[in-house]
Amino acid sequence: MAEAQPSIVKDAATDVPIRLVLFGPPGAGKGTQACKLQEAYNIPQLSTGDMLRAAAKADTLLGQELSATMKAGKLVSDATMIAMIAERIDQLDCANGFILDGFPRTPEQASALDSMLQDRGEALDLVIELKVSEESVVERISGRYQCGNCLASYHKTFCPTKAENVCDRCGHTSFTQRDDDKPETVRARLASYRRNTAPVLPYYDQKGILITIDGDQSVATVASTISSTITEKQVASAAV
Ligand code: AP5
Repeated sequence: MAEAQPSIVKDAATDVPIRLVLFGPPGAGKGTQACKLQEAYNIPQLSTGDMLRAAAKADTLLGQELSATMKAGKLVSDATMIAMIAERIDQLDCANGFILDGFPRTPEQASALDSMLQDRGEALDLVIELKVSEESVVERISGRYQCGNCLASYHKTFCPTKAENVCDRCGHTSFTQRDDDKPETVRARLASYRRNTAPVLPYYDQKGILITIDGDQSVATVASTISSTITEKQVASAAV
């Protein structure tokens, strides 16, 4: 049965800009939570995975290279990712904050992000790590499927379509699995997370902006914990 959708309640403090990173392994729920937050806080979700999947569709050499890298569960080069985010956070809709989903993924990306923000007189406010067990990751990713037309994401147990086999968003009736959600690629993505991405955590911990949340809880519980964390941060920033 589909889980009741949580409501994230905004309060007055949410007018304070918030620059947030959602951090965690594949399947941790970054995309799920980012989607709720962008509606509640009216700030954009910057998903590097989504940006890359869109770029990989192009019938160009770069598109083919990106597609092959993602299908292998490997990371795209830091130079490509840093350029992609630098261009994106310069856009007007990021003026009041953003939710980064999937970036930074290496210490080099984390340090480049800090420089980009510093040049704009800004800084990250929060890095929220969604900590999940490997069993959850495997269960979540193996049950995930997407609309063949608009790419809306569903899960056969945790987040099915409202009407059987009909996309809630566009009404399309055929669905696919992400190319990189095959079991062997998921294992490669998890290995890459442990090797390249988890080492970013101590960097943010030292800066005092890392908050770890138990991502094995329900979508609603995780959403309300993130929301309270953001509100606390905004109240603290407003008081300065
Ligand atoms: P990307 O698309 O970012 O993949 P990922 O980080 O592996 O993230 P996922 O989308 O798999 O997981 P998620 O945490 O968003 O989980 P979701 O919310 O969907 O990147 C893909 C590839 O692009 C990379 O492998 C790499 O090649 C490349 N790339 C991207 N960024 C890069 C970078 N910065 N540098 C270099 N390369 C980069 O949830 C998963 C499922 O679980 C869903 O079905 C959902 O319904 C369900 N679910 C979520 N939360 C819960 C819950 N609390 N309880 C039960 N079910 C839940």
